[in-house]
Amino acid sequence: MSIRIVQLSDLHLYQDRGGRLYGVPTWATFHAVLEQVRSQQDDFDYLVLTGDLAQDEALETYLMLRESLGGWVERCRIIPGNHDNRSNLQKAFFELFPESDSALTFELLAGGWRIVGLDSHIPGEVNGRVDGDQLEWLRARLRSEPGIPTLLFVHHPPLPINVAWLDELGLNEAAGLIALIETSPQVKIVCAGHVHQEYAGHIGAAAMYTTPSTCVQFGARAEKTFDTRMAGYRIFTLDDNGFHTEVCRLSENEGGAAVAGG
Ligand SMILES: [Fe+2]
Ligand SMILES: [Fe+2]
Repeated sequence: MSIRIVQLSDLHLYQDRGGRLYGVPTWATFHAVLEQVRSQQDDFDYLVLTGDLAQDEALETYLMLRESLGGWVERCRIIPGNHDNRSNLQKAFFELFPESDSALTFELLAGGWRIVGLDSHIPGEVNGRVDGDQLEWLRARLRSEPGIPTLLFVHHPPLPINVAWLDELGLNEAAGLIALIETSPQVKIVCAGHVHQEYAGHIGAAAMYTTPSTCVQFGARAEKTFDTRMAGYRIFTLDDNGFHTEVCRLSENEGGAAVAGG
């Protein structure tokens, strides 16, 4: 049995439907992405949103997002990014966060895989952190039935992606998480957002990916640059034999051009 996961990241939505991030109208590009998912990937099993959902962190923005997701909400799993507010996110998607833990994590067992979402949000900071109780929780999850292949989602990439200005804004004190991944051979994939671009690397034996934003795309140079590639998202297919992943992007005629205009 295989399962399919659609990952959407870095939506940066605003209460103002005309809000723009670096010139990109984030609701327009997000809706164009949703439309493409609806027409091409509607049989997905789970939709994972990996943070930076609301640029203004407002409850109203999360409620508008919920409305856009419509009947998909029950297939959604969500983790926060730096541009999020845990309390407002939790209020808007109350059934996804039944416990009032300080960390908004999730765990799914599906298709013979374990899929875990980590919460790297630090209120008021751009950098992230996964440590302490959350790291112990992850360690305990990985120890229970350690033979299950595992996919970890986390907003901030645990390792640098060789883009200096973004690597400065990564995961603080990541050594504990990296060591746990490196010593847990069942962790096959670690997938992040935050960097608004596609990247593929490794953490020990695990593949590490990052995923384009549904709005503005950053360039891969050391200093802050923008990329004219279209908004996108990532698909995972997981089964008994392993996994397949690919990035999908809007085409020019799908609207909501993701080109920064200042
Ligand atoms: Fe972002
Ligand atoms: Fe971010």
